[in-house]
Amino acid sequence: MDRIEIIRPDDWHLHVRDGEMLKAVLPISARLFGRAIIMPNLVPPVRDLDDLRAYRGRIEAAVPKGSGFRPLMTLYLTETTDPADIRNGTASGELTAVKLYPAGATTNSDAGVKDFKRVHKVLEAMQEAGIPLLVHGEVVDPDVDIFDREAVFIERVLAPLIRDFPALRIVMEHITTEEGASFVSGTGENVAATITPQHLLINRNDIFRGGIRPHFYCLPIAKRESHRLALRKAATSGNAKFFLGTDSAPHPVGNKECACGCAGIFNAPVTMPCLAQVFEDEGALDRLEAFTSLNGPAFYRLPPNEDRIVLARTAPDEAIFRAIDVGADGQVVVFRPDVPFRWSVEKA
Ligand code: NCD
Ligand code: ZN
Repeated sequence: MDRIEIIRPDDWHLHVRDGEMLKAVLPISARLFGRAIIMPNLVPPVRDLDDLRAYRGRIEAAVPKGSGFRPLMTLYLTETTDPADIRNGTASGELTAVKLYPAGATTNSDAGVKDFKRVHKVLEAMQEAGIPLLVHGEVVDPDVDIFDREAVFIERVLAPLIRDFPALRIVMEHITTEEGASFVSGTGENVAATITPQHLLINRNDIFRGGIRPHFYCLPIAKRESHRLALRKAATSGNAKFFLGTDSAPHPVGNKECACGCAGIFNAPVTMPCLAQVFEDEGALDRLEAFTSLNGPAFYRLPPNEDRIVLARTAPDEAIFRAIDVGADGQVVVFRPDVPFRWSVEKA
């Protein structure tokens, strides 16, 4: 099989930022994906429907002409989120999901939730409206080892949340552990997970191979090899609970290569070459379409995209790995794991 045609993919977890950065990175995703769930962790975050509409307008203005790309908008859950915004955003169709960042868990998460009791009313409104809660699943307790934060989150936060809101639709975003994958597999229909390309390709050793590699640093951080293998199994299993969320998260190179570098990996230009490689190596190319283009829409109760893309088994053009210029912000470095790339996007 040297060429495969699949339904156009969607990205169920994407950071496109704002301003010059938005203009530089959005067209890359818009050329490939039909839709993307837009993360709300701007500074300040997307907190209410007015913020959401204004941000959607700026995104739509950055979509290249002729692209059918559609941003699916989210609100950033804070302790002051108004349940009325959930009801109104659902009724108007403007709101697709709500993002939960435990305060301090990752880049731009300071406004996140500290006390879960304070968001009960909002979660009730979401449960009622069928609006998914997208969870950054890491505890922030400094006593918990960074490599254990996801597993501890499942035990301390996620499982109780599901007990309190059994019908709430939940996506555990960017799972990185065997515990994450098995928890999601073993829980009801209303709980799903996204998986990123990087967590299928790198483990924690790669972050330190030959020196510290800031462009392999993201949160949740890559875990040991056994977890990477469990994620590859989940993603390529065909189980409809697992789908693609790239978590493509651009940062100017100066904010990555410095004394205290930001978390976030920019993978948008190489998503499909990465995934085709993983699925081929797992003998599961026939399940790639389910992961990128079918399971996500099914969970979000949307139809799959109508058109198709073509992938070809030829090494991708070097140009896709070239850093992106973002004006005054400098450049953004593209994710490039130390693996052979044998697939490219022939037609998008
Ligand atoms: C994201 C970012 O840069 O906004 N960073 C990351 O490492 N994934 C935030 C997030 O999704 O955690
Ligand atoms: Zn993210």
